[in-house]
Amino acid sequence: MENRSVERYGAFAQFLHWATAILVLIAFIYGPGGSEERVYSAARDFDRQLHETLGLCVLALVAIRVLWRMFDQRPDPPDVPRWMGLAAKLVQGALCVLLFAVPLTAITGAWIEGHPLTLLAGVEIQPLLALSHDTGAIVAEIHTWLGDTILWVAGLHAVAGLYHHFFLRDGVLVSMLPQWLLVGKRKRR
Ligand code: HEM
Repeated sequence: MENRSVERYGAFAQFLHWATAILVLIAFIYGPGGSEERVYSAARDFDRQLHETLGLCVLALVAIRVLWRMFDQRPDPPDVPRWMGLAAKLVQGALCVLLFAVPLTAITGAWIEGHPLTLLAGVEIQPLLALSHDTGAIVAEIHTWLGDTILWVAGLHAVAGLYHHFFLRDGVLVSMLPQWLLVGKRKRR
């Protein structure tokens, strides 16, 4: 394969990135909080089903993303001080781990507690694991902490992207923006 460097992420990589960001945000907003009785009450059915469905889509997207990265060509890292490059790697690595850990702790926690996954359109996936309600409740609690953490880490990642764009004035943020967003800007210049 020809090994030339690219300036921007491909359209599919951009789609996976922004779709993941939007789904995580909506899943967070619809996070079913409160006691176990409340979370699994009929009144919370829609919120919980939407939350679980979006969360499973996030898991599918991140798995596809990891596979896609193996074949895709990505832009070279920007020319920044060593500490900044390391910090970026650390934050992106943490995000990747959390994108797997958040849905996986939710699924295992719910199952060990003895609850099926309850998805939109009335789809239910019954527990596949042995039951230990107290252990499941601890894993579900870890899920809620990790769910909050991912928002903070994603926020840091977003601030770094904006810093690159407005202060360092390099092409890091633009390399992840779709072409159609940039076309109008170029014409106006
Ligand atoms: C990346 C996706 C996800 C994010 C960001 C996320 C985030 C959260 C957050 C922040 C809470 C706590 C809500 C609050 O305290 O108000 C929560 C609770 C919960 N989430 Fe998720 N979640 C995700 C994926 C999932 C998935 C895939 C499932 C199930 C398959 C799920 C099931 C639940 C359940 C059942 C609760 C209530 C836990 C309890 O208190 O027992 N979540 N989630």
